[in-house]
Amino acid sequence: MTKGTIITTTTSFPAGFLWGASTAAHQIEGNNTNSDFWSRENEAGTILPERSGDACDSYHRWRDDLDIVASLGLNSYRFSLEWSRIVPSIGAVSNAELAHYRRMIDGCLERGLTPAVTLHHFTNPRWFSDLGGWRSAENIAHFEEYVAAAATILEGVEWVCTFNEPNMLAMIAAMFDAGEREELVAGAMPPPDRTTTEVTIEAHHRARVLLAERTDAKVGWTIANQNFQAEPGAEEVARAWGWPREDIFIDAARGDDFIGVQAYTRVRIGPDGALPAPDDAERTLTGWEYYPTAAAEAVEHTARLLPDVPIVVTENGIATDDDDRRIDYTSRSLGALREVMKSGVDLRGYFHWSLLDNYEWGSYAPRFGLVAVDRTSFERTVKPSGAWYGSVAAANGATL
Ligand code: BGC
Repeated sequence: MTKGTIITTTTSFPAGFLWGASTAAHQIEGNNTNSDFWSRENEAGTILPERSGDACDSYHRWRDDLDIVASLGLNSYRFSLEWSRIVPSIGAVSNAELAHYRRMIDGCLERGLTPAVTLHHFTNPRWFSDLGGWRSAENIAHFEEYVAAAATILEGVEWVCTFNEPNMLAMIAAMFDAGEREELVAGAMPPPDRTTTEVTIEAHHRARVLLAERTDAKVGWTIANQNFQAEPGAEEVARAWGWPREDIFIDAARGDDFIGVQAYTRVRIGPDGALPAPDDAERTLTGWEYYPTAAAEAVEHTARLLPDVPIVVTENGIATDDDDRRIDYTSRSLGALREVMKSGVDLRGYFHWSLLDNYEWGSYAPRFGLVAVDRTSFERTVKPSGAWYGSVAAANGATL
């Protein structure tokens, strides 16, 4: 596919294709008080403009969320378990919290939804961070203990992501070190912390072994893909730029059961590194360039590096208050993905980010949801894009 090409198609997707929506615990549950991100939000002089607070109150309202996913016509739901709830202090596993998440898994299965479970979506227990977090290989053993506890509730779960975007995690670590909150686009962020990179790769590999021994799940991890595009003459610079930020993490998924591709936009690379979006580019509420072929191009990139590993788009979406643009973005994205599949890429599913308007790591302003959430009553309202995406899913893409 030529970069940026928009394709529309009327053919449908393969039988069994996963049509889902994605969420993450900290962004929707509310009062995730034992996590390190909560500490960051609430510390004096924080660089984060808003606190997560009650978020979408999904810790209590998850049944409503699942009802919405099912009623839209989707067949899958991706959510994360919150480590800081399951292991509130060193060595102490909460059976009550495990039971809570098991009820969510059962809730999916009862509604005919395939659960896709993420074990780590950016947040750590505070005690883990206090021990040095992902900057110490010795701490991997703590993650293994958590994964072992999580494995006890994963019966019937086919898709497990160990980490969400370890590359973003490693860049966020570097960003907080620098004390600045830059745009969450890898091109504009500091290079990933090297130790975090090595430690998360090792932790993923150990979790993969453990989960293979104790569950029947397909195990993978999800990578933030920024679609680094070389300007003429900057091909080598772009390769060197992309390796620590992205490709090293994709390479580490060799031998996994699947890899999750997450993409929203692109970053052009010139001779001196990342370039801003073109002056005339449409921008979304996160400031990112409107670039609906992001997921398809990221899938192509991943398939080139790992031709034998099945792919799932575990996140793709747009922060906007103009719901028509969400529909436009998503339909172009799905059309381009369908086209990429025709070239033989083994794409198993698509999860839209996000089900709900949620806490975007420091602010509620960028709204990614298919469903609006009243910030006081927590009432959910399906947006036209939610109904539209659900109808596409129910028709297995035939109505695109
Ligand atoms: C993350 C989400 C985030 C989304 C939009 C991804 O980097 O996994 O947690 O909300 O992108 O920024």
